[in-house]
Amino acid sequence: MSNEFTQAKREHHALAVEMRIHDDAYYGQDAPKVSDAKYDALRQRLLDIEAKFPELATKDSPSQNVGAKPSGKFGKITHTVPMLSLDNAFDEGDVRDFAARVRRFLNMAEDIPLAFTAEPKIDGLSASIRYENGVLVNAATRGDGRIGEDITANIRTLKDIPDTLTGAGWPDVVEVRGEVYIDHEDFAAMNAAQEHAGKEPYKNPRNAAAGSLRQIDPRVTANRPLKFYAYAWGEMSAPIADTQMGAVEKFGQWEFSVNDLMRVCLSAEDMIAHYKQIEADRSALGYDIDGVVYKVNDLALQGRLGFVSRAPRWAVAHKFPAEKATTIIEAIDVQVGRTGALTPVARLKPVTVGGVVVSNATLHNEDEIKRLDVRLGDTVEIQRAGDVIPQVLRVLDADRTGRPDPFTLPKSCPVCGADAVREVDEKGNRDVVRRCTNGLQCPAQAIESLKHFVSRRAYDIDGMGAKQIEAFYHKKLVLEPAHIFTLEARNGEIKLETWEGWGEQSAANLFAAINARREIEFVRFLYGFGIRHVGHGNSNLIAKHYLSFGKFLKVVQKMTRGDDDSLAELLSIDGVGEACANALVGFFKSPQNMQVVGELLTQVTVMDAEAPNTDSPVAGKTVVFTGKLELFSRDEAKAKAQSLGAKVSGSVSKKTDYLVAGPGAGSKLKKAGDLGVKVLSEAEWLALIE
Ligand code: IVH
Repeated sequence: MSNEFTQAKREHHALAVEMRIHDDAYYGQDAPKVSDAKYDALRQRLLDIEAKFPELATKDSPSQNVGAKPSGKFGKITHTVPMLSLDNAFDEGDVRDFAARVRRFLNMAEDIPLAFTAEPKIDGLSASIRYENGVLVNAATRGDGRIGEDITANIRTLKDIPDTLTGAGWPDVVEVRGEVYIDHEDFAAMNAAQEHAGKEPYKNPRNAAAGSLRQIDPRVTANRPLKFYAYAWGEMSAPIADTQMGAVEKFGQWEFSVNDLMRVCLSAEDMIAHYKQIEADRSALGYDIDGVVYKVNDLALQGRLGFVSRAPRWAVAHKFPAEKATTIIEAIDVQVGRTGALTPVARLKPVTVGGVVVSNATLHNEDEIKRLDVRLGDTVEIQRAGDVIPQVLRVLDADRTGRPDPFTLPKSCPVCGADAVREVDEKGNRDVVRRCTNGLQCPAQAIESLKHFVSRRAYDIDGMGAKQIEAFYHKKLVLEPAHIFTLEARNGEIKLETWEGWGEQSAANLFAAINARREIEFVRFLYGFGIRHVGHGNSNLIAKHYLSFGKFLKVVQKMTRGDDDSLAELLSIDGVGEACANALVGFFKSPQNMQVVGELLTQVTVMDAEAPNTDSPVAGKTVVFTGKLELFSRDEAKAKAQSLGAKVSGSVSKKTDYLVAGPGAGSKLKKAGDLGVKVLSEAEWLALIE
């Protein structure tokens, strides 16, 4: 054996041992000990040695271990049926409102029976599992509701999830949805093992479940005690039941676990009673729940009710009251947000609330600080509800002696020093929020805007989160959105792969993720600017209305020059209000902003929004409803028209195609007559759309 070979063999062995330790830290504990760059360097050295002495590339070498080096990535799966979230109800009044709202939408009198299901809201992560001809073909996380991550390999390791559906009579395509969670007993055992091994315990079962499900190596997931309750579905090539309860019973027959606390309730009072029962049993259930979900039981009615933006009209989550704790205010800091809002944040003596250690709470704004009269050193009661930022509820020792003076927000931005003011609107109302007036010139606003730009509902760039944005900003490499898209071209100087925490692979992944966004949907493009009052909902409405960003930009530019017709068209979009219109004009009027938009447009192409369903006779038509409708509620009529691609407007103009007028129609009917707009009765409208 040559001396050189012995040397190489020794080094190879040492490298292999070290890499195995890092692999275990990465896979087994979700806690990497070294940066990607360091790991890549070890791996490269190992590969170099093996290139020279191929006999060292044995089966157990880390180089042969497929999947040993994580790509850090899951594939994406587009949900054929979006995964929705739920609206919340916080008290009994909200539950009664929900039931009443459903009846009103369905135009259903009090004496007609209406059934709901009530079941625990499991505190885990939702997943969608697809079967074709009874065989599991893929599984995805919720993601942004439209596109999730491909977790097929991990989901296959769950005992609660059948590889093939049991029984018979399932449709060709079945997507079962439900919650992945870890129960209390398993969680305790998992954390005991963590501690035994000298590792950080998990904060709570939900976090443990999330960490376990997002393992790159399914063998790790297989050793985690993940469970699954089926409670919903996505695509179904044929109906499986007439009711929610019937569908869930089918899931049970196909050998999914279903929750046995699900009940059918016949009124709001019934639902509330079941909620109280579940709340009383909560601590004995053996798994975390954070409320009770009510759903309209009749699936035909669910279909009529449909959904608003991201939540079904036919369901609501009745949340348990937030958990509370007592602690001390150690400091009050001021943060500057994306829209310049100065938010006071209480730094707390760390305290456990509902299983999670809390050390910050928001104090919202000046008025809230005044109302609470919270000061440094106070003992306070705080609460934490789900993933919401903890809040300070009240001061417990306001009568103690030697309290410092009340806390006041600075009148200038703590980050850039510009004036921070509370705006007064035309009606003389003072905004509760004090804002930095420096716009994107303020580093805090610029950084927060960039974070928003890469966030999930905007550009959703994998590998580019808050931390990375901050680093790129502070190094003056990314000061505005367009710069993100020129990073790769500048990487000859930047050398991202040499930065702490980065490697060849992760840098390449980031550039690929950025390039994948060079074609961007209209809604993401507009929402990405983070304009105040132009949230995801409004961006969506605008994209659907104008379809092309170029066309929309022309309209906005006309508006900035005072063109009333363009403004009227924008305001005719149902749901778009004055505040949104003003904010758009304000944003696109600024030459600095237009420069940012222009530069971004040299890097990305904005895709047109999908044209509405053109098979329908009312697609693209503008409809106004007036007077009393007798067969459907106004809301249902409106929702139906929109689902057929029509635009529903609140006022009659020369752009109106149809006025649907019921009994009692007045001024709109007259105006339609004056303008020669076609007037339909409710029955004629129905005949038209059917
Ligand atoms: S139904 C279309 N039922 O809560 C309605 N969701 O806040 C789909 N969740 O994303 C949801 N338990 O992750 C439903 N029994 C239950 C649930 C439940 C937990 C989660 C689910 C969803 C979130 C909405």
